[in-house]
Amino acid sequence: MSDAKRPLRSAQWFGTADKNGFMYRSWMKNQGIPDHEFQGKPIIGICNTWSELTPCNAHFRKIAEHVKKGVLEAGGFPVEFPVFSSGESNLRPTAMLTRNLASMDVEEAIRGNPVDAVVLLTGCDKTTPALLMGAASCDVPAIVVTGGPMLNGKHKGKDIGAGTIVWQMHEAYKAGQIDLNEFLSAEAGMSRSAGTCNTMGTASTMACMAEALGTSLPHNAAIPAVDARRYVLAHLSGMRIVDMVREDLRLSKILTREAFENAIRVNAAIGGSTNAVIHLKAIAGRIGVDLQLEDWTRVGRGTPTLVDLQPSGRFLMEEFYYAGGLPAVIRRLGEHGLLPNPSALTANGNSLWANCQAAPLYDEAVIRPLANPLVADGGICILRGNLAPKGAVLKPSAATPALMQHRGRAVVFENFEDYKARINDPELDVDANSVLVMKYCGPKGYPGMAEVGNMGLPAKLLAQGVTDMVRISDARMSGTAYGTVVLHVAPEAAAGGPLAAVREGDWIELDCKEGRLHLDISAEELAGRLADLQAPPQLITGGYAKLYLDHVMQADEGCDFDFLVGCRGAAVPKHSH
Ligand code: FES
Repeated sequence: MSDAKRPLRSAQWFGTADKNGFMYRSWMKNQGIPDHEFQGKPIIGICNTWSELTPCNAHFRKIAEHVKKGVLEAGGFPVEFPVFSSGESNLRPTAMLTRNLASMDVEEAIRGNPVDAVVLLTGCDKTTPALLMGAASCDVPAIVVTGGPMLNGKHKGKDIGAGTIVWQMHEAYKAGQIDLNEFLSAEAGMSRSAGTCNTMGTASTMACMAEALGTSLPHNAAIPAVDARRYVLAHLSGMRIVDMVREDLRLSKILTREAFENAIRVNAAIGGSTNAVIHLKAIAGRIGVDLQLEDWTRVGRGTPTLVDLQPSGRFLMEEFYYAGGLPAVIRRLGEHGLLPNPSALTANGNSLWANCQAAPLYDEAVIRPLANPLVADGGICILRGNLAPKGAVLKPSAATPALMQHRGRAVVFENFEDYKARINDPELDVDANSVLVMKYCGPKGYPGMAEVGNMGLPAKLLAQGVTDMVRISDARMSGTAYGTVVLHVAPEAAAGGPLAAVREGDWIELDCKEGRLHLDISAEELAGRLADLQAPPQLITGGYAKLYLDHVMQADEGCDFDFLVGCRGAAVPKHSH
């Protein structure tokens, strides 16, 4: 018999002595499973995003083996299953297009199968939110095990950061500072071990968010992928999930509003990716927490950025782990009264503060003191105004302070193709004070909302030594990128947002202090231009992309599908049997 708080869900499949029980057990037995494995043991699903086409997650079979050892040791029975793997580096047009698809796969795989709980193996950017979204909609006990970051990249005797170095070297190449040979020679050195991007990009950010939310064991976010301690953590997580079944510790007890507030504050302290704004909203929506853009202002804005990691700072995830990792950051926040909800429950059954209050901190260059932060006024800047009535975001720690209050003339690109065609045209009427505006790259305009918002600067300005300009779009930006970049403008151009009405030469005002993004034309002029807009032809007529277009919500709503919001629970729908 199980000692669980409530009957095992898996017993609905394996626990009966009738025709159905016969069938469910019999087919499973073709894998060599003896009878006693079906007798009252928690069945633990290991939800695996392993794929050789998702290089960041290509080592996950080995992680799964260690999870299994832990599950078996604790008296559970592990079953590994694959789900759609949204790999950032290979998947076109953008992995974000399939985040919701992956979440549907996860949700239905959990609900339809005889599992009592799941271990979520996540790594590359979208896999973390996708798996948490799917599991949250089922509200089963779940624990996140991340694949871990790559070792530091190495090039010409120096450390280089995954993703960030690509942006930096490409700008240098365009400016004529390095040649093609040098540009290409960094490839192998950047990605020299298994794991995710080693900067504080979206993968590292979301791993930190999973830990700050309480859905993983402490230190899950930062242990390098090839460090043996990553596999110890996988083993311990496998042990822990079995107890979570016995305690009925479901995601709804962990993913509370308090947990999301902690995550928002932590995101500011680590200088995390703007993508977290979209993903946390989507996860919150699945579990019934009403997170709003204003929560990022109320809870996160003004929090000092303590973690000195690329792209905002200097170091990489290896140093972050050796310096003490996320528990050391949370301890530092808590000691200064900056952890909003210390008593929030986490996967190991302790509060977040109990897990972190004694966490050692070994290197104050990497995790800086509050008195000497990387950025005093960090967090995510939420902007509103007639150009973004439903909001836009900017990451201050990655921006140039002098540009965060700026007025400039718009140089307008109608879409990404137009941008690529004209940005390096020597005749382009642009100077360092111009504001680069790109339209039709939002959730519907460039389905999936590609990470193209950090538009590279015109080559002629790079050659003059210009290193940053204000850029505005409805796109997203890679977490490894940087610049004074306004992103996620909502409503997007393709949804009839005011961004679509911007014309060449318009004056635009950005004021991060006031949270304002303003197109300097009259309300009548703006309304007239919007009324005259011609929608671009829609080329997508079928397939998953059509489903996406028809149902994706705007960036401020997390880009989830409208019909996926909410927790539907783990009960199998009645009509299926
Ligand atoms: Fe996978 Fe960066 S491309 S984590």
